[in-house]
Amino acid sequence: MAFISSSSLSSHYHLIFTALAFIISCLILLLSRKSKSKRVNLPPGPPGWPVVGNLFQFARSGKSFFEYVGDLRQKYGPIFSLKMGTRNMIIISGPELAHEALIEKGQIFANRPRENPTRNIFSSNKFTVNAAIYGPVWRSLRRNMVQNMLSSSRLKEFVTVRNSAMDTLINRLKTEAEENGGVVWVLKNARFAVFCILLSMCFGVDMDDETIERMDDMMKTVLITLDPRIDDYLPLLSPFFSKQRKRALEVRNEQIETLVPFIEKRRSILQNPGSDKTAASFSYLDTLFDLKIEGRKSSPTNAEIVTLCSEFLNGGTDTTGTAIEWAIARLIENPKIQSKLYEEIKSTIGNRKVDEKDIEKMVYLNAVGKELLRKHPPTYFSLTHAVTEPAKLAGYDIPTGTNVEFYLPGISEDPKVWSNPEKFDPDRFLSGGEDADITGVTSVKMMPFGAGRRICPGLGMGTMHIHLMLARMVQEFEWSAYPEDRKIDFTGKLEFTVVMKNPLRAMIKPRV
Ligand code: HEM
Repeated sequence: MAFISSSSLSSHYHLIFTALAFIISCLILLLSRKSKSKRVNLPPGPPGWPVVGNLFQFARSGKSFFEYVGDLRQKYGPIFSLKMGTRNMIIISGPELAHEALIEKGQIFANRPRENPTRNIFSSNKFTVNAAIYGPVWRSLRRNMVQNMLSSSRLKEFVTVRNSAMDTLINRLKTEAEENGGVVWVLKNARFAVFCILLSMCFGVDMDDETIERMDDMMKTVLITLDPRIDDYLPLLSPFFSKQRKRALEVRNEQIETLVPFIEKRRSILQNPGSDKTAASFSYLDTLFDLKIEGRKSSPTNAEIVTLCSEFLNGGTDTTGTAIEWAIARLIENPKIQSKLYEEIKSTIGNRKVDEKDIEKMVYLNAVGKELLRKHPPTYFSLTHAVTEPAKLAGYDIPTGTNVEFYLPGISEDPKVWSNPEKFDPDRFLSGGEDADITGVTSVKMMPFGAGRRICPGLGMGTMHIHLMLARMVQEFEWSAYPEDRKIDFTGKLEFTVVMKNPLRAMIKPRV
């Protein structure tokens, strides 16, 4: 899911790398003549240079990786290959192929590739649900997260946390609007609300706003440190990046130092029940202290717990915040959709505050949520997959060690499975219209949460947060463009998720 940006390949490095690449290419060509092995039948793709492959073609395109891939699929179709330095990628962007890989051959395509060295530091050597190889560690971690935190019965237990975060969100928006002539930032506020929910679920201890901001800053620093570098693709250049490696270790230590006091606080609360009246009755941490991992004798260390908590916080914060930003942009662009949503809220609930029990009854809200995730999947790629053994797809070979990427907009905007795929139109999901199984089991038409064995375990919680936040935000305020006559620019920009290139500011007017 994380890709290098073309701008990060500065022209200075470009020269050094080109020279190095040329010398090494010659060497490799000489060696490979002697050891021509059995040819694999890879999907077609743009021809690349020896050693660097398509890396510099991408760099010269000046595009984001998702734009580069979007262009290539026009030429090469729903499955093609790219070689980014030492990394071979196969990119799948067709609904049928995604179904074949992730559902029909789900077990084979459920692996993850090896990590780059920086990611290994932050994932405690792949000790997370998202990075673990398909095997017993993954099974233990995923089962724990799903059964103890994300099942529908567990989710219900955190209702007060969500209600309080929603009230805080509405108050923050009101205050910001009062101080800024009715104008608010959308992404920042939505992110903060969902981060508060996840923090509370994760740590189960009270945190003031300042601490929450500090935690959030820490998480952002980690994400920036994890941004891919050129030496992740060309490891022989790693001697040039010792400063960055040192910095990564420093950030990891800062992350551990920031989070461990909260871990210890919770541990002590569990050992001395009743010692902290503000503590929550249950948290993700409680499930981690004595977690049994298949094939391992010891329970997770503090550093591993830091990693697992960070995964929990990161998995749901930017994804959900991003979805809300695009949603509000669409509601501003389409006032009729906004009014229809408001009418549904009013007729279902009357004057009281939206409660999450009301959400299921709101058919139109669900249609808006689904259309949002079809048209604006928060991540344009699922997390990178790999095969557990050499496999075939569409008649091509998929070798082990190859990064298998699923390009999500290619699937959810495929004109073969959608009518008017470009249009944002929630009505398509109302009775008699189109439908799509968001889990992809029956058929894949959209997969904002991935599909198959590695499907996002936060699917239920993520959709609930989106629906709840949208319903509260539309119930409380009428949303319009800022500046008033500005047409919204729907260009996206890669920032872990695909956010709006021009961060959305909106005018809000209280409804009452
Ligand atoms: C709108 C919200 C969300 C979206 C759009 C989203 C999207 C995704 C996607 C595309 C994947 C990759 C699936 C694959 O590899 O095929 C994923 C995996 C994952 N997500 Fe989410 N996610 C969301 C919310 C959450 C939440 C709330 C959590 C947990 C707190 C979470 C935790 C995870 C984890 C742990 C994985 C890795 C699963 C595995 O490898 O087995 N996500 N998510």
